[in-house]
Amino acid sequence: MSHNTFGHLFRVTTFGESHGPALGCVVDGCPPGIPLAEADIQADLDRRRPGQSRYVSQRKEPDLVRIVSGVFEDDETNGQVTTGTPITLLIDNVDARAKDYSEIRDRFRPGHADYTYWAKYGIRDYRGGGRQSARETASRVAAGAIARKLLNALYGQVRIRGALVQMGSSRIARERWDWEEIPRNPFFSPDAAMVDEWAIQLETLRKNGSSCGAVIEVVAEGIPAGLGAPIYGKLDADIASSLMGINAVKGVEFGAGFAAATLSGEENSDEMRMGADGKPLFLSNNAGGILGGISSGQPIVARFAVKPTSSILRPMQTIDRGGREVEIVTKGRHDPCVGIRAVPVGEAMLALVLADHALRHRAQMGETCGADPTV
Ligand SMILES: Cc1cc2nc3c(=O)[nH]c(=O)nc-3n(C[C@H](O)[C@H](O)[C@H](O)COP(=O)(O)O)c2cc1C
Repeated sequence: MSHNTFGHLFRVTTFGESHGPALGCVVDGCPPGIPLAEADIQADLDRRRPGQSRYVSQRKEPDLVRIVSGVFEDDETNGQVTTGTPITLLIDNVDARAKDYSEIRDRFRPGHADYTYWAKYGIRDYRGGGRQSARETASRVAAGAIARKLLNALYGQVRIRGALVQMGSSRIARERWDWEEIPRNPFFSPDAAMVDEWAIQLETLRKNGSSCGAVIEVVAEGIPAGLGAPIYGKLDADIASSLMGINAVKGVEFGAGFAAATLSGEENSDEMRMGADGKPLFLSNNAGGILGGISSGQPIVARFAVKPTSSILRPMQTIDRGGREVEIVTKGRHDPCVGIRAVPVGEAMLALVLADHALRHRAQMGETCGADPTV
């Protein structure tokens, strides 16, 4: 199976299956001299880890990461830094229960990629879906932590954060948005007032053996103007592709997104003035920080929608490998709303695309961006 690598200059290859011994990634192209310790990566992995609350999969994976290549001692800091060689990260699977899947080894789970993997390859790992499982996203989050470090080394304070903004049909109130609230609740909600409502909603779904979808917003701040390239290397196109590449994602939008279609030109255009700091000041950000495929220096704002979890406790109709019409009940441990744990995954994908574009920009333009309007 090909296409397990993405990125041009900051290249990530992931490997491993849901119920194999381990998974991980190789990050190739990271410049030397970036301070990198396992703790830097672990902090992000801990935010994606299953089993952290009753509202996510109860699989107990510590997701402890090991850096097995690509770093060496740094005399100046007494820590370790990247060497410019491939960085390999390994995460052991310690709580895989293959027997949960033995009854359905010949049956295709509706909403999963069981049938399509079978149709394409003629072989599939039925244990938790093998490679199609979102367990693979642990590797992306680990690689994303390195991308964040690189972006900070290049541009100073870059902040890439995400939040759950809608669960099922229930949305946060944007006027109550508080980034500080996100680590305080199990949903990555920026709106404290939604926490109890979402808890009740998920409890009801869980009791009914059902599930729901969600919308996640990811925001990158501190990215300068100039990343991205016309016409086939547009930053928004690459971010959209990377977010669509996350399991269960069904749609992506930037800034005002689909709602832009309902605005007039004067409402939607982000008018410009000069700010007190001598830099351009946009009066709104309906573009989501990208114009013509190139970052404008405003926060980059993207949202993605995930479908409801397909593995639910209700019997469903399907077919088996022999073409027989059968019923299926999915066991195993599942996320009743996959959108919760998708938040750090979305942040990681955004960081990875931005790191790749930062290196691509540097390769073409050197250290600086083009023209400053004040010059
Ligand atoms: C973080 C995360 C966790 C997920 N956990 C589950 C799960 O527990 N059960 C499930 O049925 N799907 C889960 N999914 C979604 C499936 O992996 C995905 O729907 C399936 O592989 C089919 O791929 P597709 O929806 O992209 O077409 C999860 C997705 C993400 C991003």
